[in-house]
Amino acid sequence: MSQGTNSSIVKNIIVGVLTVVIFALMIYTYLGGGAYHGGEHGKVIEDMGQSNVEKISETDMKEKDDREKEQDKLTALRDKAGNIGAFKVSQAYKSKCASCHGVNGTGEQNGKKLMGPKLFGQDSEKIYKDLIDFKAGRKENLIMKGLLIKLDEEDLRKFADEIGEFPAREKAMSDQ
Ligand code: HEC
Repeated sequence: MSQGTNSSIVKNIIVGVLTVVIFALMIYTYLGGGAYHGGEHGKVIEDMGQSNVEKISETDMKEKDDREKEQDKLTALRDKAGNIGAFKVSQAYKSKCASCHGVNGTGEQNGKKLMGPKLFGQDSEKIYKDLIDFKAGRKENLIMKGLLIKLDEEDLRKFADEIGEFPAREKAMSDQ
């Protein structure tokens, strides 16, 4: 056996041992989950990446301090009270519009923003025109358009008049 063969066997052994050690380290870091994946921060970012709006708002909630939470609770309570004791609205409004614009047109429910904008306080003529424009497709919104397809102009007039009356109805309630 020559000197050359001997040292190449030693080299092979060293390379082999090193490979095993490196693999062991990789597995160790992987299981540890930590630095290799960016640690907790990495996880939060990952979560946010795949998450829906709900998860993001959950994180938002967590970030609010206690005073803000207290404020939110108050607003929710006030809104709830406002909703329950609020002026009467038609069954048609309740079933067709309230889910997105709020039971009294505030565009909110229990302090949470709904899908549709606030209608309360808008002039009935403006509302009527908006509805007609949605229906005709001049004002583009697929949700509103789809919703109004089955309603005729007389229905739209009624909705517009009713919503335009909301502030007066509320005032009548609070004057009692
Ligand atoms: C599925 C949810 C949804 C329902 C139900 C719904 N809306 Fe809407 N509405 C919206 C959204 C979203 C917009 C905002 C559209 C935009 O700005 O492009 C909107 C906009 C409007 C606007 C324009 C307001 C503004 O300030 O621009 C009026 C008026 C309106 N809706 C009336 C109604 C009426 C009346 C009903 C019941 C017949 C109703 N909506 C039902 C989602 C809804």
